[in-house]
Amino acid sequence: MKPIDWTNLGFEYTEADYLIRCSYKDGHWGELRATKDKYLNLHACATALQYGQEAFEGLKAIRGVDGKVRIFRMEENAKRLRSSAEALYMAPVPTNLFTDAIRLSLKLNIDYLPPYGTGASLYFRPLLIGTSPRLGVGPGSDYEFVVIASPIGEYFKGKFHTTTFIITRHVDRAAPLGTGAYKVGGNYAASFRATEPNHQQGYGTLFLDSKYHRYIDECGAANFIGIKDNTYITPRSRSILPSITNNSFMSLAVELGMRVERRHIEVSELSSFEECAACGTASIISPIGMIIDPDKGRAYDYGKEPGAWSRRLYDAILDVQHGRRADNHGWCEIADI
Ligand SMILES: Cc1ncc(COP(=O)(O)O)c(C=O)c1O
Repeated sequence: MKPIDWTNLGFEYTEADYLIRCSYKDGHWGELRATKDKYLNLHACATALQYGQEAFEGLKAIRGVDGKVRIFRMEENAKRLRSSAEALYMAPVPTNLFTDAIRLSLKLNIDYLPPYGTGASLYFRPLLIGTSPRLGVGPGSDYEFVVIASPIGEYFKGKFHTTTFIITRHVDRAAPLGTGAYKVGGNYAASFRATEPNHQQGYGTLFLDSKYHRYIDECGAANFIGIKDNTYITPRSRSILPSITNNSFMSLAVELGMRVERRHIEVSELSSFEECAACGTASIISPIGMIIDPDKGRAYDYGKEPGAWSRRLYDAILDVQHGRRADNHGWCEIADI
């Protein structure tokens, strides 16, 4: 194991030993390759650079209480990358190629897997890019699939805390029938002009649906959850990313005795929630203390401390990922290392 200060790692890139790569040429995928070189030798006209043919994923491997290493729901990430690839007219990565690449990355970078009890994990960032040089507008024929590995630290650094979000109406994250439901780089670049100024003031960004600006859509780079009357409520929208964490929470919420609803959430409903939170792989669940709606001169206050349901849901998913709670849904693959 590498001499890394695991407890002080953030959600930033820390170099591990190997990159896993695979090329798509002449209509088929080649063999997986492992390289120590972290740079890609890319043509300046590559369709990834010219026309944004790029999609990515994010998932974790975690050392459990029993010393075993668990990879969380990687088939779901494989499925989502396929759907992102199809949305951008790229060659989809077959599920078995995706999962083999993650297993190989874990095996070769095992020294970067943080020990149990640090809250840290080994994060994989699979990436799919168009590599064909093209000047005329159109998709390429060649693609590169890359898996980057990086250890990341515990998001909350010991103290589970709340964050303030701001409702943003001057920027839309994604068009109603656009690419919001896909994990493609363009969505993120297009939202920075809203998220960065808010971030510099210490706020997260709450996007509304871009057609009516009436319903809650995406919560920065996470899905939104509202909780009231024992009910877990999350938006139904075609322009949000189908979060694997949110999907897992919907099952765990039922196990914990909650009702679950996926439906439109009007902004005015924010005043009736007992708890709100953002969810995603990085933070798992990030409780919201306050939502400010500057255009309407309103603020919705959920309190400085995380709510009880947010805490229960957070503990439940962490317990599954660390082997402390039964994995009733077969979410974790025990790594063969
Ligand atoms: C825009 C967006 N929404 C939601 C999520 C949460 O998805 P997941 O739980 O699969 O990480 C992410 C992060 O991956 C994201 O970037």
